[in-house]
Amino acid sequence: MAQTRVAAASVPNNLESFWLPFTPNRGFKRAPRLIVRAKDMHYYTAGGGGPVLDGTAGLWCTNAGHNRDPIVAAIAGQAEELDYSPAFQFAHPTAFELASRLAALAPGDLNRVFFCNSGSEAVDTALKIALAYHYVRGEGTRTRLIGRERGYHGVGFGGISVGGIVNNRKFFGSLLAGVDHLPATYSREHQAFTKGEPEWGAHLADELERLVTLHDASSIAAVIVEPMAGSTGVLPPPQGYLPRLRAICDRHGILLIFDEVITGFGRLGYAFAAERYGVVPDLIAFAKGVTSGAVPMGGVIASDRIYETFMRGPEHIIELFHGYTYSAHPLACAAGLATLDLYRDEKLFARAKALEPRFAEAAMTLKGLPNVLDIRTVGLAVGIDLASRAGAFGLRAYEAMERAFRDEALMIRIAGDTIALSPPLIVSEAQIGEMFEKVARVIKAVA
Ligand SMILES: Cc1ncc(COP(=O)(O)O)c(C=O)c1O
Repeated sequence: MAQTRVAAASVPNNLESFWLPFTPNRGFKRAPRLIVRAKDMHYYTAGGGGPVLDGTAGLWCTNAGHNRDPIVAAIAGQAEELDYSPAFQFAHPTAFELASRLAALAPGDLNRVFFCNSGSEAVDTALKIALAYHYVRGEGTRTRLIGRERGYHGVGFGGISVGGIVNNRKFFGSLLAGVDHLPATYSREHQAFTKGEPEWGAHLADELERLVTLHDASSIAAVIVEPMAGSTGVLPPPQGYLPRLRAICDRHGILLIFDEVITGFGRLGYAFAAERYGVVPDLIAFAKGVTSGAVPMGGVIASDRIYETFMRGPEHIIELFHGYTYSAHPLACAAGLATLDLYRDEKLFARAKALEPRFAEAAMTLKGLPNVLDIRTVGLAVGIDLASRAGAFGLRAYEAMERAFRDEALMIRIAGDTIALSPPLIVSEAQIGEMFEKVARVIKAVA
């Protein structure tokens, strides 16, 4: 296949002022990767370059593809009608409509939606609701939060405290007190090159029993996990792990929070991973795919039981002292409704499910290429572990990302020396093939 070259980006103004997030700034500013436009599965770069195939749905968020006309029209229409209205003490109708639609998508009695603006805020909101829930029902001793090693829950202090990625934690002081962690569910020895949920590892949920023995259930408010750990490099849950976690939480009155910021909205072939795994948590944190990335939005879906627990006391008093200026922002709500329509009308969750075997098969063709240590697939997501260069952790994958963009016109995501791919759910079978052919060439190039 002919290689596509992305035109070198021209540089607007200068690059000094913008401090890029989660990016090595000096390297970027020497050779910027500037995106100026996008449509469906592709980006276009400054100076007329592209198309660049989006192998990552942006940052796991543009699940319906880029610049979809109905979403663009909904945002524009909403901006003309109502740019903003306060979400404290007032509201606009679109927020109720979106909340109802989300409640209908969520499993079980998860029917109450609290809106915020990002995944990090969604996580902090879920943790705060869990703590406050125990407080208002008279069990204020339940203050301990349990996360998991290798977990990613955004960058707020709550999220990094329950998160388990060392570089996201070590620079930032003492974090939240009273947090403990379950072990990560990954073992290369037992799970390497598994398609879908590995057979080994359900017993790791029992570590929660050990933490209950250590701390006592009366001190534990909630456990938070990603059903599939995404940012650390795609770790699908072991078969039976999540039901076991649910059972232990139930036994001890501990709330179970699923961080579905990545797994929500079709990534694993269902509206929420909770459905795929047949486990209903008490709280779901969501973001990203709810608007297909078009406008920032996040939120928490709580059970009726949790919501009702707060609905007590004098009726003029606020029940939950929490919220954001931009909670349920009109533009985000309009984008969310248009996005949910697209998911429904184009059956994108079912499409992701149907494509999963083809995607996994194509991913596994990389097995045997130089430095490929493991490949893990689930839904439309894959993590590919590469061997690190001697003394330079992360360099091989960084080079791979650079080469993929410049030489193969493909956007990939990296975490350490792991490549992660998670295309928009509109990806075609041909584009899946194209994506993995490009990745194969890149892996050979960085051998
Ligand atoms: C599971 C999970 N939780 C939370 C977040 C944080 O989301 P945001 O970057 O929107 O704050 C992410 C982002 O990747 C995520 O993957």
